[in-house]
Amino acid sequence: MTAIAIDGPSGAGKSTLARRLAAWLGYIYVDTGAMYRTVGLYAVENGVNPKQEDAVTALLPNIKIHLAYQDGAQHVFLNDEDVSNRIRTEQISMAASDVSALSSVRAFLLETQRSLARENNVLMDGRDIGTVILPNAQIKIFLTASPEERARRRYEELLARGETVCYETVLEDVRQRDDQDTNRALSPLKPAEDAVVVDTTGFSFEQAFERLQQIIKERL
Ligand code: DC
Repeated sequence: MTAIAIDGPSGAGKSTLARRLAAWLGYIYVDTGAMYRTVGLYAVENGVNPKQEDAVTALLPNIKIHLAYQDGAQHVFLNDEDVSNRIRTEQISMAASDVSALSSVRAFLLETQRSLARENNVLMDGRDIGTVILPNAQIKIFLTASPEERARRRYEELLARGETVCYETVLEDVRQRDDQDTNRALSPLKPAEDAVVVDTTGFSFEQAFERLQQIIKERL
């Protein structure tokens, strides 16, 4: 099996690029952020503070997450309910970042992620895929862009979805999540030593896509 790991901060364009690259390669796309979001959603909907390790840990046995693919798009199921859209709000983004700092949650998701890579050719995106989950991945890419550019992309995505948002708030959220994800003790966001770092600031989607295709072609 072949595994390609794409890590990087939120808003660097990972998921759109990873989805398109997986379709090009014929690999399964695994969006691991969606799994953390699902745990965050379950905590919030059950009135549990996503920062409280004991309370969140107690919920884990009630959570069953599975991924399914419909027309090439990944759908995330929480206890058999499709939550793919509900996990995409700003509130759940922050809850996902909170629960992702808890060791019980990381351990809970680790095996699911590894087993997907044992059974399929995967292109997996996240924060710790190249460093922790799949240290033997054949190709590791660390995708980044400036916080302002990532906030602008996120802002436009939210506007397009009809949400009322303010750019400054989105930028503040991006910085706060970067800070939390980079400075946490467990599996912090950082490039693997053998990752190719790609900064997409100022790149169009097509330019970034072509750059990644080129990196993959050279290494496969
Ligand atoms: O990629 P995303 O924005 O959907 O991820 C949501 C949160 O989950 C993000 O704040 C960091 C966390 N995460 C993580 O800790 N490890 C991963 N492999 C993927 C996401």
